[in-house]
Amino acid sequence: MDERLLTDLKSTIRSIPDYPRPGVIFRDITTLLGNARAFRRVVDKLVQPWPGSKIDKVAGIEARGFILGGAVAHQLSAGFVPIRKKGKLPHETVRIVYSLEYGVDEMEMHRDAIAPGDRVILVDDLIATGGTAGGAVQLLRKMGAEVVAAVFVIDLPELGGAQKLREMGVTVRTLIA
Ligand code: PRP
Ligand code: ADE
Repeated sequence: MDERLLTDLKSTIRSIPDYPRPGVIFRDITTLLGNARAFRRVVDKLVQPWPGSKIDKVAGIEARGFILGGAVAHQLSAGFVPIRKKGKLPHETVRIVYSLEYGVDEMEMHRDAIAPGDRVILVDDLIATGGTAGGAVQLLRKMGAEVVAAVFVIDLPELGGAQKLREMGVTVRTLIA
Protein backbone atom coordinates (compact mmCIF):
# COMPACT_ATOMS: atom_id res chain seq x y z
CA MET A 1 0.00 0.00 0.00
CA ASP A 2 1.34 3.50 -0.71
CA GLU A 3 3.06 5.19 2.22
CA ARG A 4 0.83 8.27 2.17
CA LEU A 5 -2.37 6.21 2.44
CA LEU A 6 -0.83 4.08 5.17
CA THR A 7 0.14 7.15 7.19
CA ASP A 8 -3.33 8.65 6.66
CA LEU A 9 -5.05 5.47 7.84
CA LYS A 10 -2.73 5.05 10.83
CA SER A 11 -3.52 8.60 11.94
CA THR A 12 -7.24 7.73 12.18
CA ILE A 13 -6.62 4.93 14.72
CA ARG A 14 -6.63 6.01 18.36
CA SER A 15 -4.21 4.41 20.82
CA ILE A 16 -5.27 4.15 24.44
CA PRO A 17 -2.50 3.31 26.92
CA ASP A 18 -3.21 0.89 29.76
CA TYR A 19 -6.58 -0.29 28.44
CA PRO A 20 -8.14 -2.73 29.30
CA ARG A 21 -5.28 -3.38 31.72
CA PRO A 22 -1.90 -1.84 32.56
CA GLY A 23 0.79 -2.33 29.91
CA VAL A 24 -1.60 -2.80 26.95
CA ILE A 25 -1.84 -0.13 24.26
CA PHE A 26 -5.38 -0.57 22.95
CA ARG A 27 -5.77 0.18 19.22
CA ASP A 28 -9.20 1.78 18.98
CA ILE A 29 -10.70 1.67 15.46
CA THR A 30 -13.90 3.56 16.34
CA THR A 31 -12.14 6.75 15.20
CA LEU A 32 -11.29 5.09 11.85
CA LEU A 33 -14.89 3.87 11.44
CA GLY A 34 -16.21 7.36 12.17
CA ASN A 35 -14.12 8.82 9.34
CA ALA A 36 -16.09 8.20 6.13
CA ARG A 37 -13.07 8.32 3.82
CA ALA A 38 -10.91 6.07 6.02
CA PHE A 39 -13.71 3.51 6.51
CA ARG A 40 -14.33 3.27 2.76
CA ARG A 41 -10.64 3.01 1.92
CA VAL A 42 -10.01 0.29 4.49
CA VAL A 43 -12.88 -1.83 3.19
CA ASP A 44 -11.75 -1.29 -0.43
CA LYS A 45 -8.19 -2.29 0.49
CA LEU A 46 -9.24 -5.38 2.44
CA VAL A 47 -11.10 -6.82 -0.59
CA GLN A 48 -8.63 -5.65 -3.26
CA PRO A 49 -7.12 -9.10 -4.08
CA TRP A 50 -10.52 -10.72 -4.74
CA PRO A 51 -12.26 -8.70 -7.45
CA GLY A 52 -14.82 -10.84 -9.19
CA SER A 53 -13.68 -14.08 -7.55
CA LYS A 54 -16.47 -16.19 -6.13
CA ILE A 55 -16.65 -15.78 -2.38
CA ASP A 56 -19.69 -17.45 -0.84
CA LYS A 57 -19.47 -16.13 2.70
CA VAL A 58 -17.68 -13.53 4.77
CA ALA A 59 -17.30 -14.61 8.40
CA GLY A 60 -16.90 -11.77 10.91
CA ILE A 61 -15.62 -12.19 14.46
CA GLU A 62 -17.52 -10.48 17.29
CA ALA A 63 -17.50 -7.60 17.85
CA ARG A 64 -15.50 -5.33 15.58
CA GLY A 65 -15.27 -7.96 12.86
CA PHE A 66 -19.05 -7.58 12.43
CA ILE A 67 -18.73 -3.94 11.38
CA LEU A 68 -15.94 -4.51 8.87
CA GLY A 69 -17.21 -7.93 7.78
CA GLY A 70 -20.67 -6.61 6.88
CA ALA A 71 -19.14 -3.98 4.62
CA VAL A 72 -16.73 -6.52 3.09
CA ALA A 73 -19.60 -8.96 2.42
CA HIS A 74 -21.55 -6.22 0.67
CA GLN A 75 -18.53 -5.31 -1.43
CA LEU A 76 -17.99 -8.95 -2.51
CA SER A 77 -21.72 -9.72 -2.94
CA ALA A 78 -21.27 -12.52 -0.39
CA GLY A 79 -23.39 -13.65 2.55
CA PHE A 80 -22.33 -12.75 6.11
CA VAL A 81 -21.76 -15.26 8.93
CA PRO A 82 -21.34 -14.03 12.52
CA ILE A 83 -18.87 -15.86 14.76
CA ARG A 84 -19.95 -15.02 18.29
CA LYS A 85 -18.90 -15.42 21.88
CA LYS A 86 -20.68 -18.43 23.40
CA GLY A 87 -24.36 -18.29 24.28
CA LYS A 88 -25.40 -15.49 21.93
CA LEU A 89 -26.70 -17.39 18.90
CA PRO A 90 -30.28 -18.71 19.02
CA HIS A 91 -30.13 -21.80 16.79
CA GLU A 92 -28.02 -24.97 16.85
CA THR A 93 -24.32 -24.10 16.98
CA VAL A 94 -20.82 -25.53 16.65
CA ARG A 95 -18.43 -24.31 19.33
CA ILE A 96 -14.68 -24.11 19.82
CA VAL A 97 -12.50 -23.36 22.82
CA TYR A 98 -9.70 -20.95 21.90
CA SER A 99 -6.82 -19.37 23.77
CA LEU A 100 -6.38 -15.67 24.44
CA GLU A 101 -3.28 -13.90 25.72
CA TYR A 102 -4.40 -14.87 29.22
CA GLY A 103 -6.76 -17.81 29.57
CA VAL A 104 -9.32 -19.40 27.26
CA ASP A 105 -12.76 -18.54 25.89
CA GLU A 106 -15.33 -20.15 23.61
CA MET A 107 -16.92 -18.97 20.38
CA GLU A 108 -19.52 -20.43 18.10
CA MET A 109 -21.44 -20.14 14.87
CA HIS A 110 -24.68 -21.58 13.59
CA ARG A 111 -24.28 -25.16 12.39
CA ASP A 112 -26.15 -24.39 9.15
CA ALA A 113 -24.30 -21.13 8.39
CA ILE A 114 -21.70 -22.78 6.13
CA ALA A 115 -22.20 -25.42 3.44
CA PRO A 116 -19.32 -27.84 2.73
CA GLY A 117 -17.06 -26.33 0.06
CA ASP A 118 -18.13 -22.74 0.72
CA ARG A 119 -15.36 -20.29 -0.10
CA VAL A 120 -15.02 -18.04 2.95
CA ILE A 121 -13.09 -14.91 3.86
CA LEU A 122 -12.60 -14.32 7.58
CA VAL A 123 -12.60 -10.69 8.81
CA ASP A 124 -11.56 -9.04 12.07
CA ASP A 125 -10.21 -5.63 13.01
CA LEU A 126 -6.96 -6.82 14.55
CA ILE A 127 -4.77 -9.89 14.95
CA ALA A 128 -2.56 -10.15 18.03
CA THR A 129 -1.73 -13.67 19.30
CA GLY A 130 -3.97 -15.21 16.64
CA GLY A 131 -5.88 -17.24 19.25
CA THR A 132 -9.22 -15.79 18.19
CA ALA A 133 -8.69 -15.97 14.42
CA GLY A 134 -7.03 -19.40 14.68
CA GLY A 135 -10.08 -20.71 16.55
CA ALA A 136 -12.39 -19.20 13.94
CA VAL A 137 -10.43 -20.89 11.11
CA GLN A 138 -10.73 -24.25 12.89
CA LEU A 139 -14.47 -23.74 13.33
CA LEU A 140 -14.97 -22.85 9.66
CA ARG A 141 -12.86 -25.77 8.44
CA LYS A 142 -14.73 -28.15 10.75
CA MET A 143 -17.89 -27.19 8.87
CA GLY A 144 -16.20 -27.88 5.51
CA ALA A 145 -15.39 -24.31 4.50
CA GLU A 146 -12.49 -23.44 2.27
CA VAL A 147 -10.89 -20.50 4.07
CA VAL A 148 -9.70 -18.42 1.12
CA ALA A 149 -8.10 -15.74 3.33
CA ALA A 150 -8.19 -14.01 6.69
CA VAL A 151 -8.08 -10.20 6.55
CA PHE A 152 -7.39 -7.67 9.30
CA VAL A 153 -6.90 -3.93 9.43
CA ILE A 154 -4.20 -4.13 12.12
CA ASP A 155 -1.43 -6.66 12.77
CA LEU A 156 0.55 -6.67 16.00
CA PRO A 157 3.47 -8.66 14.52
CA GLU A 158 5.42 -9.03 17.77
CA LEU A 159 2.57 -11.24 19.07
CA GLY A 160 2.96 -13.66 16.15
CA GLY A 161 -0.70 -14.22 15.22
CA ALA A 162 -0.38 -13.63 11.47
CA GLN A 163 2.58 -16.02 11.32
CA LYS A 164 0.60 -18.61 13.27
CA LEU A 165 -2.30 -18.39 10.79
CA ARG A 166 0.08 -18.72 7.84
CA GLU A 167 1.48 -21.87 9.45
CA MET A 168 -2.11 -23.18 9.46
CA GLY A 169 -2.09 -22.72 5.66
CA VAL A 170 -4.17 -19.54 5.64
CA THR A 171 -3.53 -16.60 3.29
CA VAL A 172 -3.34 -13.55 5.58
CA ARG A 173 -3.85 -9.93 4.53
CA THR A 174 -3.20 -7.09 6.97
CA LEU A 175 -3.08 -3.36 6.19
CA ILE A 176 -1.29 -1.72 9.11
CA ALA A 177 1.38 -3.06 11.46
C1 PRP B 1 -9.90 -8.31 19.97
C2 PRP B 1 -9.84 -8.19 18.47
C3 PRP B 1 -9.68 -9.62 18.01
C4 PRP B 1 -8.86 -10.23 19.14
C5 PRP B 1 -7.42 -10.38 18.71
O1 PRP B 1 -11.16 -8.74 20.36
O2 PRP B 1 -11.00 -7.58 17.94
O3 PRP B 1 -10.92 -10.30 17.88
O4 PRP B 1 -8.91 -9.30 20.26
O5 PRP B 1 -6.63 -10.96 19.72
P1 PRP B 1 -5.86 -12.34 19.53
O6 PRP B 1 -5.25 -12.32 18.15
O7 PRP B 1 -4.83 -12.32 20.61
O8 PRP B 1 -6.84 -13.46 19.70
P2 PRP B 1 -11.58 -8.83 21.90
O9 PRP B 1 -11.15 -10.16 22.46
O10 PRP B 1 -11.09 -7.58 22.57
O11 PRP B 1 -13.18 -8.89 21.84
P3 PRP B 1 -14.26 -7.75 21.42
O12 PRP B 1 -14.03 -7.42 19.96
O13 PRP B 1 -15.57 -8.44 21.62
O14 PRP B 1 -14.04 -6.57 22.31
N1 ADE C 1 -6.86 -7.27 20.93
C1 ADE C 1 -5.72 -7.81 21.41
N2 ADE C 1 -4.80 -6.85 21.62
C2 ADE C 1 -5.38 -5.66 21.26
C3 ADE C 1 -4.94 -4.31 21.24
N3 ADE C 1 -3.72 -3.96 21.62
N4 ADE C 1 -5.79 -3.35 20.80
C4 ADE C 1 -7.05 -3.70 20.41
N5 ADE C 1 -7.52 -4.96 20.42
C5 ADE C 1 -6.69 -5.93 20.83
